[in-house]
Amino acid sequence: MITIAIDGHSSCGKSTMAKDLAREIGYIYIDSGAMYRCCALFALEHGLIAADGTIDTAALEALMPEIQVSFRLNAETGRPDTYLNGENVEQRIRTMEVSSHVSPIAALPFVRAAMTAQQQAMGREGGIVMDGRDIGTAVFPDAELKIFVTASDEIRAQRRYDELVAKGQPADFQEVLDNLRERDRIDSTREVAPLRQAPDALVLDNSHLTIEEQKQWLLEQYFKLTH
Ligand code: CDP
Repeated sequence: MITIAIDGHSSCGKSTMAKDLAREIGYIYIDSGAMYRCCALFALEHGLIAADGTIDTAALEALMPEIQVSFRLNAETGRPDTYLNGENVEQRIRTMEVSSHVSPIAALPFVRAAMTAQQQAMGREGGIVMDGRDIGTAVFPDAELKIFVTASDEIRAQRRYDELVAKGQPADFQEVLDNLRERDRIDSTREVAPLRQAPDALVLDNSHLTIEEQKQWLLEQYFKLTH
C-alpha cells in the first residue's frame, strides 16, 4: 500500500477527488485542512481571536495538547466526519467564519508542528490518501504518488459558493472569492511549509473537468503506478 498526497489551492475540489479515490481503492482518507479548521474553531470558541483578528498565540500554544482531531465514518453520508475532542464538528468547521480565520492559525509554527505530528501518525502504515497544502512537501515528502491540483480563482469560488448554498449556509460570491484569494496568499507566503508544488508532483488543472473526469484521471495515475 502506498501513500498518496494531494495538494493544491483552496476550494479546487481536492477533497472530492481524494475521497472518491480512497473509497474506490479501499484506502483511508484524511482531510488535513479539516484539522487546521478544528484549530481555528477551537481558538474562536476559547476567545483567543480578537475582533481585529489578533490571535492570543501564547494561550493557544499552551492549549495545543488539548486539540485532538479524529475522523469517523458517517454511515448516512458514507463519508468521514471530523471530530474535535470527541465532538462532531463537521458542519461547524465549514463556515465562512472559520474560513476567514484558518490561514493565520495554520501559519503558526507550533500549530503546524502539532498537526503534522498527528498526520504522520495517521499515515504511518501507508494505505492513505491525504489532501492539503504541504502533504507532498512536508508531511509525506516520500509519498509515492503526489498530485498538485489547481483551477482558476473564479471557478474555485463558484464551486465553494455552490457548496455553501447547497448546505443552506449564508454565502456571498465576492466574499467567497476574496476569502480564497486571501487564503492562497497567506498559505503560499508563510515561512513554515508553504503551499508549493513538489518537484515530483503531477499537476492537474481541473478548471474544465467534471468530477467524474477528474476521478478517472486520478484512478489512471494510481493504476499506472501500482500495476
Ligand atoms: O476546503 P479548502 O480547500 O478551502 O481548504 P481546506 O483544505 O479546508 O484548508 C483550510 C485551510 O487550512 C487552508 O486555507 C490552509 O490555510 C490550511 N491548511 C494548511 O495550512 N495545510 C494543510 N495541509 C491543509 C490546510
